[in-house]
Amino acid sequence: MHKPQLSNHMRCRWQVFDAGWSNFGKMVVPVCLVLLALLLEGCTRPSVHEPVTLILLEEWSNKTFGEVRQQELQEFTRETGIRVNLLPSPESSQQKLALWKDLLGTGASGPDVYGVDVIWPRILSEYFIDLKPYFANEIPLQFPGLAESYTVDNKLVAMAYRSDIGLLFYRTDLLRRYGYREPPRTWDELQIMAARIQAGERAKGRKQFWGFVWQGAADEELTCNALEWQASEGGGRIIEEDKTISVNNPQAIRAWQRAARWVGSISPPSVVGYREWDSLNVWVAGDAAFMRNWPSAYVDSQAAGSPIRNEFDMALLPGGNGGRVGTLGGWGLAVSRFSAHPHEALELVRYLTRKDVQVNRSRVLSQPPTLAELYHLPEVLELNPRFVILNQAFLTGIVSRPSNVTGEKYQVVSDAYIRAVHSVLTAEKSAPEAAAALENELVRTTGFKTGPPPGKPAHLE
Ligand code: GLC
Repeated sequence: MHKPQLSNHMRCRWQVFDAGWSNFGKMVVPVCLVLLALLLEGCTRPSVHEPVTLILLEEWSNKTFGEVRQQELQEFTRETGIRVNLLPSPESSQQKLALWKDLLGTGASGPDVYGVDVIWPRILSEYFIDLKPYFANEIPLQFPGLAESYTVDNKLVAMAYRSDIGLLFYRTDLLRRYGYREPPRTWDELQIMAARIQAGERAKGRKQFWGFVWQGAADEELTCNALEWQASEGGGRIIEEDKTISVNNPQAIRAWQRAARWVGSISPPSVVGYREWDSLNVWVAGDAAFMRNWPSAYVDSQAAGSPIRNEFDMALLPGGNGGRVGTLGGWGLAVSRFSAHPHEALELVRYLTRKDVQVNRSRVLSQPPTLAELYHLPEVLELNPRFVILNQAFLTGIVSRPSNVTGEKYQVVSDAYIRAVHSVLTAEKSAPEAAAALENELVRTTGFKTGPPPGKPAHLE
């Protein structure tokens, strides 16, 4: 059995992060910090004549992102006179959601604006105001279907500011060195290439080198990874659009089994504890041939001083019988209905989702915009030629987590899925056993019926 261990790469994450902000092992720390920040903020709440200070709580995905966000907030203050305090947040998705729920659940005026993961609108809808009336002109400019992901019962819970999709990062220099002209199109090709490159690099004495790194920690990122493995093999999306629980099927089981074989062979044993940052650290150190990650991983890979600068590229993830798909991720901004400054909070959301601000962010962070036209804008493409691939992926290669059909039960469903897949990766359970137990658990939790996943989408026939 593979036990998750803290690898050197994982340890080095804490050196990468500033001031240990992400080192929140337990929920109690962030909750206390946020409550303390709110208390202090409360003490300094302005009188009627003083400028308003908003509180923003969001994903805070990395140091560079945090710095760019601070610059954006300063610019917002210059434009509007409204100040903003950006609060830190825990790294884990589950911990973030728990913190958001705790704060919103008190009903007190805490943060005014919250970051909302694309899978959360149905879980948190009741706490936020409807943004639809305020963004009628902007909504049609977003990527097709994006506003829908943040809409619950005709209410726009959050305005998207960042689109995410799972991608394959690959080392162009190593592919060349080992005689490959293109990145792998199928998972089988990836396995073969990863094993060969890994063997070759190790033979040269690079004992730390791995073929493929990804996110196997028992948290939301595992749902994203495993969904890609199974959906691309025709194994469905756990619970389908028509509320059929489809997860217990041979294609999904085979996809999980294959990933379990990667652990300790082309992927490090500790990959079962890896989050996005852990895989990125291995990758940026030059110690992996392939990495699955979000587009945001580009910035650190291409940073000045990165050993792999200009030696990598991004492609669609490999696929199988079900095509090539990446999990849809992304974040929006929502206004708390308990905010004492809803007008100013709306201004902030408007600013952070505005076209020129997104253009700048795509240039300095390579962050995929949410406005469709920006994928064709020369000033964006000039610095991000890879947005062409992203555009294609967003239009044809997305698999969504079943957060729309499971509503507020999504987190329970995802947690059950994570436990099942993780138990297969760590060899605690066989894949058929884990899939059958998961199916029972999902029937109990949701009350939905079971059935096979749908056939291939028409465009893949
Ligand atoms: C990224 C995605 C988000 C996903 C999370 C999982 O932040 O944008 O949708 O839930 O990763 O770690």
